[in-house]
Amino acid sequence: MLVDLALERQPDSVVDVGTGSGCIAIALAVHLPRALVYAVDISPAALAVARRNAERHGVAGRLHLMAGDLLTPRPQLVDLIVSNPPYVAADEWASLPVAVRDHEPKLALDGGPDGLAITQRLLSEAPAVLRPGGVLLVEIGATQAASVVHLAETAFPGATVRIHADLAGHDRVLEVAT
Ligand SMILES: C[S@@+](CC[C@H](N)C(=O)[O-])C[C@H]1O[C@@H](n2cnc3c(N)ncnc32)[C@H](O)[C@@H]1O
Repeated sequence: MLVDLALERQPDSVVDVGTGSGCIAIALAVHLPRALVYAVDISPAALAVARRNAERHGVAGRLHLMAGDLLTPRPQLVDLIVSNPPYVAADEWASLPVAVRDHEPKLALDGGPDGLAITQRLLSEAPAVLRPGGVLLVEIGATQAASVVHLAETAFPGATVRIHADLAGHDRVLEVAT
């Protein structure tokens, strides 16, 4: 869903924050052959997987993998920021499927006490990296829409903020259009 929404924008430059295996960034690099695509992760192990996957999909030469903490170090200005950040709240751990809770790295899921620690930080750093007219797309938890809209309106006064629901009708993606 994040990838479809991103492709609708046809950006010339994009950064995928928390790229993990690189699935989002690689899909964008494949479908946007002229775009500059950056992919950032704090985990060296995740970046190694993303590198292998980029090679497999023939985009390793066009995907700029960066070790970083969200948008630090800062990439160049981009048209689009996409992210599927960790957003699981502390009280949701117990209800996660065992396959996820016990086998996914905590770093990939843990969004702090309310699930929004990483998203809030990303929103506060994003204005310095988005070109005027740029767009930010962030995956969210199904119960987080009201909180992330408030955070986005604070970080981007005057921007158009909306929430996209997934096919099951659950709130799933925050969009901020500057
Ligand atoms: C939910 S996973 C998403 C992976 C992939 N983008 C996807 O959609 O499947 C979140 C990713 O964010 C990374 N991450 C967590 N904290 C981060 C931070 N402060 N800066 C950059 N990446 C971070 C994790 O290592 C993990 O790869």
